[in-house]
Amino acid sequence: MNRLPPHPPLPRHYDQDTRREGFVRSLFDRGASAYDQIDAVFSFGTGPRYRRDALRRSGLAQGQRMLDVAVGTGLVAREAQRVLRNPGDIIGLDASLGMLNAARRNLVGPLVQARAEAIPLADGSIDLITVGYALRHFSDLNRTFIEFRRVLRPGGRVLLLEIDQPQSRVGQAALRFYLGGVVPALSRWVGGSRDARQMMQYFWDTIAECIPPESIEGALAGAGFSDVSCDVQIGVFRAYRASA
Ligand SMILES: C[S@@+](CC[C@H](N)C(=O)[O-])C[C@H]1O[C@@H](n2cnc3c(N)ncnc32)[C@H](O)[C@@H]1O
Repeated sequence: MNRLPPHPPLPRHYDQDTRREGFVRSLFDRGASAYDQIDAVFSFGTGPRYRRDALRRSGLAQGQRMLDVAVGTGLVAREAQRVLRNPGDIIGLDASLGMLNAARRNLVGPLVQARAEAIPLADGSIDLITVGYALRHFSDLNRTFIEFRRVLRPGGRVLLLEIDQPQSRVGQAALRFYLGGVVPALSRWVGGSRDARQMMQYFWDTIAECIPPESIEGALAGAGFSDVSCDVQIGVFRAYRASA
């Protein structure tokens, strides 16, 4: 299957595709200590309740085993801990050791340093895979979705939370002004470092250059997922769902 990067190389940050993986890991290692503070100030409507509702709508229930890919500091997994009684049933996976160290302060379940494209778990061992606002950072969505399907039990579900540009030009300009200008500038102050600013600049640049939602849904279907759907809220917040 062809490689499907979620966006082309971004010369403002790195010029060649081969540098993507190292750049992303270093970016989040350096930004980890500021991430929760920035999220609390600019949570873009994607705060704890939004994440928890999305998990419930995906059928997360007692007794299930969940894998939160790109767990970051644990913002999605923390909400899952409130739904599942046994926190050991939630595995957090991330490429960045800095993020995993921050997650350890919030989560009690197992944490794994690995990439979404190569998950060190057995076939058919997971009921629900979640990804919160991280798809844009992976290097190959086709490979990632094939890996997700391998790890999910038959009938298991995937939930991908993302931010996308709205359809209208006015909406696009407003989002660009806010996420591309205001948030990075203030992140330097809120997060207390240039690294925080760069992380939030990258956040926006990847949204602006991301492949369209239809390509993400097509990649899920191409990896063998069924019942592929996407809820959209205020034209910006997307929740992709699919069954293995
Ligand atoms: C914007 S944070 C999202 C964190 C969290 N899911 C949330 O909802 O706030 C993106 C995370 O993706 C992780 N990441 C980026 N590329 C990855 C990859 N290929 N495999 C696993 N994690 C990756 C980063 O290290 C970072 O922790």
